[in-house]
Amino acid sequence: MEITGLQSKIHDEARQGEAYAPFALDANTYKKYFYIESYGCQMNFNDSEIVASILNKEGFGATKNFEEADLIFINTCSVREKAEQTVRKRLTEFRKVKESKPGMLVGVLGCMAERLKSKFLEEEKLVDIVVGPDAYRSLPALIEEAETGQKAVNVLLSREETYADISPIRLDSNGVTAFVSIMRGCNNMCSFCVVPFTRGRERSRDVDSIIAEVTDLYNRGFKEVTLLGQNVDSYYWVNEQTNEPVTFAMLLEKVALISPELRVRFSTSHPKDITDEVLYTIAKYENICNYIHLPVQSGSTRILQLMNRTYTREWYMAKVNRIKEIIPDCAISADIISGFCTETEEDHQDTLSVMEHSQYDFSYMFFYSERPGTLAAKKYKDDVPLETKKRRLAEIVEMQNKLSSISNQKDVGKTFKVLIEGNSKKSDEYWMGRNSQNKVIVFPKENYSLKKGDYVQVKVNSCTQATLLGEIIEA
Ligand code: SAH
Ligand code: SF4
Ligand code: F3S
Repeated sequence: MEITGLQSKIHDEARQGEAYAPFALDANTYKKYFYIESYGCQMNFNDSEIVASILNKEGFGATKNFEEADLIFINTCSVREKAEQTVRKRLTEFRKVKESKPGMLVGVLGCMAERLKSKFLEEEKLVDIVVGPDAYRSLPALIEEAETGQKAVNVLLSREETYADISPIRLDSNGVTAFVSIMRGCNNMCSFCVVPFTRGRERSRDVDSIIAEVTDLYNRGFKEVTLLGQNVDSYYWVNEQTNEPVTFAMLLEKVALISPELRVRFSTSHPKDITDEVLYTIAKYENICNYIHLPVQSGSTRILQLMNRTYTREWYMAKVNRIKEIIPDCAISADIISGFCTETEEDHQDTLSVMEHSQYDFSYMFFYSERPGTLAAKKYKDDVPLETKKRRLAEIVEMQNKLSSISNQKDVGKTFKVLIEGNSKKSDEYWMGRNSQNKVIVFPKENYSLKKGDYVQVKVNSCTQATLLGEIIEA
């Protein structure tokens, strides 16, 4: 975790260091074993599940223990410098294992592979395979090539690839919640952001393959899906036979109709693209969760312009008002960056006041980290001193802590429908679940015979800044 370790909720790198053993291993079933570790956003985690599926078809099994693996993969993130440093450090740990295990291969996947391409192989001598986010289908061939002692690289970006036909193997799954990618890439070109360069052009996935995947998840007992994309509100798919277009609002409705027992979430919405139609669809279906992640980035119109976010402070605040008007109990969270190029104290105050206006339930907060090749790196000077960025970030975090406390205090005394995700971290005698607003609620199991994946009515009795504490009212 970076200095954004100050953040009240950790966005990316949240599950860093976790590795997966997705299925029971039968020693005789697999020819080789792979280990995969993921960093970055939810889409990267879902991509690792796609990679696991591709490798599994080729007869590779997953292992949770990298020392046992024939292949080590690290699925990387480039969004901030710190994310890349974390990966580099991890690679030095893998080097030690590789030195004692001749023949073991190390592959770098994801956004850092795409950003650095074959330069990676010069910089990191232990790396054998470099694969960008659109080239995972070529992994079996690249592994074969690397096994002959050559370095293997494929960083081609695609305008079509959505891995629509691949059923991801659910890694480290709780069996209740799952991610489903509905699009890839991003065309937005926010000036600070490396994602359009690492993930390529935006493209939407075939609607039928999305519905088939979600239906299959539901039939296998999953109770919640999160539809993923860098910019889900610009989802757009045209059925070739009927010529009928499917917008994001229509997709949401189709997914919600699979079953009222299946919760639907989505991430991320760009404020410029979220339509009233989407908001009315959320309001119409009880199983579409009342929670919108609406990254603001900055509260200053001047900075927003430099960031190429295409909205003003006023426009954003009006959007927040509209959400609360159409979905009164909707929770809203944001991403916020402190210390972007030329940011003044006044700009910073504007950010704090937008936060207050929006009453965010939580936020993911970062200080600006210049990324090579982005528009901001080319056009503007990274001129806010690091200490100032960090101090402003600390003030943003302090503001968010205040807002999170207010938001949680308001929930005390209320009763929510909670989907049980598993045991609470602190004790097996407690369940942990979420309400529609995406807040974590912990409550004693008592004598009810409930299991994960069940819905239960929970009354909130108290709260901390991060968690609601409650009791079962009705099972
Ligand atoms: N597509 C999503 C999120 C992309 S990355 C969206 O548009 O909201 C997640 C978050 O990382 C961004 O919202 C932004 O707040 C942060 N981020 C991206 N680039 C950054 C940079 N160069 N420095 C600091 N934070 C950055
Ligand atoms: Fe990056 Fe902006 Fe695209 Fe989000 S919308 S991925 S911040 S360019
Ligand atoms: Fe990181 Fe790439 Fe996601 S840069 S945030 S892993 S799209």
